[in-house]
Amino acid sequence: MRKIVFTLCAALLLLTACKGRQAAPVTESPEAKAARMEWFSQAKLGIFIHWGIYSRGDWSESWAFHNGRVSMEDYFAQEADFTASAYDPAEWVRLIRESGARYTVITSKHHDGFALWDTRAGDVSAVKSSAAGRDVLTPFVEEVRRQGGLRLGLYYSLIDWPREDYPNVFRAGPPRYDIHKEPARWQHFLDFNSAQLRELCEAYNPDLLWFDGDWEFSSEEWDAPGIVRLLREYNPDVIVNSRIAGQGDYDTPELGVPVVKPQARWWETCMTINDSWGFRKDDVDFKSPDTILRMLVDCMSMGGNLLLDIGPRADGTIPEEEVAMLRLLGRWISRHEEAVYPTRAGIPAGHVQAYTTLNQAGDILYLYFPYVPNESLEIKGLKSKVKRVRVVGSGQELTWKLYNDIDWSATPGVYYIQVPPEVLDPHMTVLAVELDGPATLYEGSGQVISFNE
Ligand code: GLC
Repeated sequence: MRKIVFTLCAALLLLTACKGRQAAPVTESPEAKAARMEWFSQAKLGIFIHWGIYSRGDWSESWAFHNGRVSMEDYFAQEADFTASAYDPAEWVRLIRESGARYTVITSKHHDGFALWDTRAGDVSAVKSSAAGRDVLTPFVEEVRRQGGLRLGLYYSLIDWPREDYPNVFRAGPPRYDIHKEPARWQHFLDFNSAQLRELCEAYNPDLLWFDGDWEFSSEEWDAPGIVRLLREYNPDVIVNSRIAGQGDYDTPELGVPVVKPQARWWETCMTINDSWGFRKDDVDFKSPDTILRMLVDCMSMGGNLLLDIGPRADGTIPEEEVAMLRLLGRWISRHEEAVYPTRAGIPAGHVQAYTTLNQAGDILYLYFPYVPNESLEIKGLKSKVKRVRVVGSGQELTWKLYNDIDWSATPGVYYIQVPPEVLDPHMTVLAVELDGPATLYEGSGQVISFNE
């Protein structure tokens, strides 16, 4: 009898352990997570790189064959044009660093399954199946580590449409198979993904994993918690984006800066410079540098990052418009550094007609405005007292007037900061408003004052 009870208990324990391995989320204290996310929240700008056989420039990355715009055969014929003949990873990394970005995320493998590194898990890679005939990821990572100052992110698509053991292939059309009817085939695919992820962790020890494509299956089906645990085995501090079926560390709104401050404490908007992620010959719809700069500052003002994408050509050259954009961002950021990296989300809209952030102590309010104010900039509902206002970059001090600062009124006075035209930055002017303590705000609707002198 004792033996039976013992065996039953052991079986139960084993079952719970196995179940745990399948679905239990990775847990950690809020403080530990905040410490792990520290570099990310101070990074503000990241550069995304979409590079693969689609970089020949005729069709979109992976989606072209999935959506039936081209045949799978024509799509993969692009491997012959992925030469990387003018690829200069040292130059790529120099440019990214020059942009002021503190991290970079490169597509190690998109939904088409083409791996930029020499994967042992499959035959579709820059080494084995492209004109380049060599690993193009390793030299990039080596440069990132050698030049310093950048965290390394690897984009990895969970989806791999062309593979026979992956259930879906074309958007219109039946799936290859049902994972519930052929669990072993699905497991074979999951093992392939894990094998590639292990290779990436072992070879590159990334600081961040940027997953994509989780929408095709559930957390349980992907074994998302298992994937995160695998990554943590290699690097307990690794950061994972949200596209891993509920297991990620931060949100990734795409191609649109949020309108109101997101609920998530950590987030990043990913954005194209033109309308495409990968290089497209016919896409010349480049956003202006000022537009991108506004997006960056808009993200910062709501406590988020901007992950700005570039799409190098198949030969490894980066389009001139993108180079110019990164350089301009870099020049602006280096002039306004104190108002970029160490900041956090600013005050709610309505207090001032400008983007805002605060320093960590909360006693410097930064104002960013991409326009020429007529005469002055107004700040209302600020209970803290202004001690000094200076222009970030030049340090020039500005004067202000405070109106209706009535002792016995709960509504604070309104500040009017004089902004002469000669202090304006050609792209975005930044003022540092130094306060007598952490910013405190009045959020009411005004009042009738029942006492006057
Ligand atoms: C989307 C697309 C993909 C692109 C990615 C970047 O999810 O599937 O093509 O790489 O977004 O955010």
